[in-house]
Parts: sequence; structure tokens; C-alpha cells
Amino acid sequence: MKQLELYSDISNQDFDKLYPEYIRSLSNIHWTPIEIIEVAIEWLGAYSGANILDIGSGAGKFCIVGGILSNSKFTGIEKRGNLVSEANKLLKNFELNNVRFINANILNSDFRKYDAFYYFNPFCEQIASCQWIDQNISFSKTKYRLYENYVYSQLLKMPLGTRLVTYCSHDFSPPSSYKIKEMMFNGLLVLWIKKTF
Ligand SMILES: C[S@@+](CC[C@H](N)C(=O)[O-])C[C@H]1O[C@@H](n2cnc3c(N)ncnc32)[C@H](O)[C@@H]1O
Repeated sequence: MKQLELYSDISNQDFDKLYPEYIRSLSNIHWTPIEIIEVAIEWLGAYSGANILDIGSGAGKFCIVGGILSNSKFTGIEKRGNLVSEANKLLKNFELNNVRFINANILNSDFRKYDAFYYFNPFCEQIASCQWIDQNISFSKTKYRLYENYVYSQLLKMPLGTRLVTYCSHDFSPPSSYKIKEMMFNGLLVLWIKKTF
């Protein structure tokens, strides 16, 4: 079991070294850097006990780092079983009881179970011509729209004050009731809050 305090100021590179090589090699493109996670979780209410959902949690980096830095609950939903296994393997190394991973398609999740949401361009592989995590995703604009529309409709149902963070997700527009509080990191990171119905 690792001592959490040793990891509270771990560098991004050192954190990635905790993963096997094939997961680490995907980090630059697919997993959130720690400096981004630090800002995102603060806006999402991690230091005030929010229940946070990572939409497409990959190898679990966002949730595990969030769980180390705060006492809030983090749930990662990820459709690739092998990534959920890697996330759970790494999770076992830490004494964290505030982080869990669910192997499921986001289409099967009810956002009302959560308070705040993290969205790092989860569906982009569906319409990308390269830089896939693996070859198991079919090119499909229809699926891309289906997933995006599902997230949109779930966000629509959330109460006023719901917080959202999008990262590298210029193509995704949340419902117009969500307003931008701040854009950071050259516009890559956007902090949103639901202000109206
Ligand atoms: C860009 S990665 C982000 C990983 C993680 N959020 C992080 O920041 O480290 C997006 C992830 O979303 C997953 N994903 C894509 N479509 C999904 C869906 N429909 N349901 C659940 N997960 C999905 C992908 O398999 C991928 O692991």
C-alpha cells in the first residue's frame, strides 16, 4: 500500500510511470495532465464533498489523482474493459475508498446520481482518423452524435448550480443554461456552471 501523502505532489511524469508502458504511451494525448486535474477538481467542488463523475474515465488518472488530493467521491465510467482493469489495478495500490470505476457505456448512466461532471473529449475517437487508443472503435459520426446528445440531455436535467469542466472539447456545447465561468490553459480548459433552466 502506498502512502498517499507521498503522492499528493507527484509530478505528471512520475504518476504516468505507475502505469504499464502501453498505458503510459497514451498519456500525452488521452489522459489528463495533473496540473489540469488540480484546477478542474477545485471547480467541481472536490474540496466541498462533491460527488464527481468522469465521463469516459480511461485508465483512471483523473479519478485517482482527484481521490488522492481530496476526500470527495469520484466515479469513472469507461466502456473499455481493459482500461477499467488497469484503473482498478492502480487503485489497489492506494488506500482510497472514495474512487470507483464502472465498466459501462455512458448511455447507461444516470447523471442525477452525481453533482459535478468532467468531460475530456471522450467520444472523439469515433470521428478521428488517427491517434486511437486501440483499433476497437468504429468510425461513426452517428454514434458520436448519439453519445454527445445523451450527455447533453443528462446535463439538461441537472439542478441549478451544477458544475461541469470540459477539457480539449471545443466541439461540445453543453445546454445553453450552462454558462462559462472561466477559460484557462489557452482555452483548453473550460469551467461551466448551470445558471438558468
Ligand atoms: C480522452 S479519454 C479521457 C480519460 C480520462 N477522463 C482522463 O482524463 O484521464 C476518453 C475515454 O472515454 C472513453 N469512452 C469513449 N466513449 C465512451 C462511452 N460511450 N462510454 C464510456 N466511455 C467512453 C474512451 O474509451 C476513453 O478511455
